[in-house]
Amino acid sequence: MSTADSPTDLMERIVALCKRRGFIFPSSEIYGGFNGFFDYGPLGAELKKNIRDCWWNDMVRRRDDIVGLESSIIMHPKVWEASGHVAGFTDPLVDCKVSKQRYRADQLFFAAVVVDGKTVGYVSALESERTAEELQAAAENFKRKKGIQGALLSVQPKDMTEAKPEEIALIPSPATGEPGSLTPPRSFNMMFQTNVGAMTDGSSVAYLRPETAQGMFVDFKNVVDTGRVKLPFGIAQIGKSFRNEITPRNFIFRSREFEQMEMEYFIHEDADWAKCHQEWIAWCQAWLLSIGLPESHLSLYAHPKEKLAFYSKGTVDIMFKYPFGVQELWGIAARGNYDLTQHATASGKPMEYFDEATKKKFVPHVIEPAVGVDRILLAALCAAYAEEDVKDEKGNVEKRTVLRFSPRLAPVKVAVLPLMKNKPEIVDVAEKLYRKLKRKWNVFYDESGAIGRRYRRQDEIGTPWCVTIDFETIEKDGTFTLRERDTMQQRRITETELFQLLEERVY
Ligand code: GAP
Repeated sequence: MSTADSPTDLMERIVALCKRRGFIFPSSEIYGGFNGFFDYGPLGAELKKNIRDCWWNDMVRRRDDIVGLESSIIMHPKVWEASGHVAGFTDPLVDCKVSKQRYRADQLFFAAVVVDGKTVGYVSALESERTAEELQAAAENFKRKKGIQGALLSVQPKDMTEAKPEEIALIPSPATGEPGSLTPPRSFNMMFQTNVGAMTDGSSVAYLRPETAQGMFVDFKNVVDTGRVKLPFGIAQIGKSFRNEITPRNFIFRSREFEQMEMEYFIHEDADWAKCHQEWIAWCQAWLLSIGLPESHLSLYAHPKEKLAFYSKGTVDIMFKYPFGVQELWGIAARGNYDLTQHATASGKPMEYFDEATKKKFVPHVIEPAVGVDRILLAALCAAYAEEDVKDEKGNVEKRTVLRFSPRLAPVKVAVLPLMKNKPEIVDVAEKLYRKLKRKWNVFYDESGAIGRRYRRQDEIGTPWCVTIDFETIEKDGTFTLRERDTMQQRRITETELFQLLEERVY
């Protein structure tokens, strides 16, 4: 397999393919786009729906211990006070007073330029896979430009949250290259505010939810009282969340409007939370493999104890190797009974569970696997994308771009291709098959162009199978040619076998 040359190149090609084939568009593109917002086109909407459906089926419908929920996006503002978001859902922000650019302080790196043991200046760079190299190159450049003689020490990168007050004025802004314009980091609350009702004063302030999780905590009692659930059990939700990210970036990886799939798994206060945590980490890893993400791209990151919130017992992130670096895909947190206790205190309504066996009441603890649909979609796109040299029917080498989506995720499951569009007998069979398949799956009908070209078009959008209706179909035994995307091999298949194949592989 040959892919693009550099990670940036590769991302650019994936973004271009998404635009070209109708997966993802910049939001409000005719008005110049809107930073941090995206639209999903026809194929992207299908792909996203398949991710949601796989998760919902596996997480909720196929289990006996998890129920679903759909809570409102705008909740009572007291929810966000109790959860700690109003006071603490912040990122450190640095402004450049000259360029008016804003940076997340923990993503803006700097280093002292040290020559012969003496600090002679500072350099800065934005976080990337190559931050250390960029800072080193900038330090060498700085020394050369200033004509400073002596031995340059290897740079020691730090982020702006670690900058001492006296250093801030000396660190150059990445926008201007000059020092003196960066402000000290300050806390920036990432919740989007709105007003509910006709008044627009402080009394009507509300927030677009920054996570779906609080819906599960706030409705905990309602579900327990109505859902016939017994501990341990989970409440799951899929829905939009909104964060006013300072620096949305890496395409849909970090955006301002995104979709989360979260599940709160409530356990007994005395349960072995560490075991349950491990089980959910394993479940999430297995689920990612089931939708076709390669094991080689997945790893685990355990948050260091000293960086955890005071109530958290442990958080492990499943990381994914994106072209722009290894980044968080799925967080699995053991949150104790913090959230339910907070809401009980703030609302004055008990959030306890009555244990029939012991006749005791207690506030359950929770394990929370929380993942972004858009991040899974981007991981699936990046893992699936390949460019290869293949031979056409005449033996000439040509490039094929292919998305090797798992059949579970592929936006189009089968393409139905009549070999010739001017042979009514062929077209008739093809149309009938297309209509029959379409009742259950998203299927595409394509009769235009040479068959090889049609295969390529399907490869590029990740369709796992093409079915060609040809002369053998109508003149011999009614079988079709099944062409597989990954091997490009062809074989004859009956209609019954085709339906069986789809039932088995698309679940
Ligand atoms: N309730 C816990 C919670 O929301 P989080 O780590 O802030 O935890 C969970 O978010 C997941 O949501 C992340 O692992 C990521 O997949 C996704 N996510 C978070 N912020 C995002 C953003 N700005 N854009 C896209 N996905 C995001």
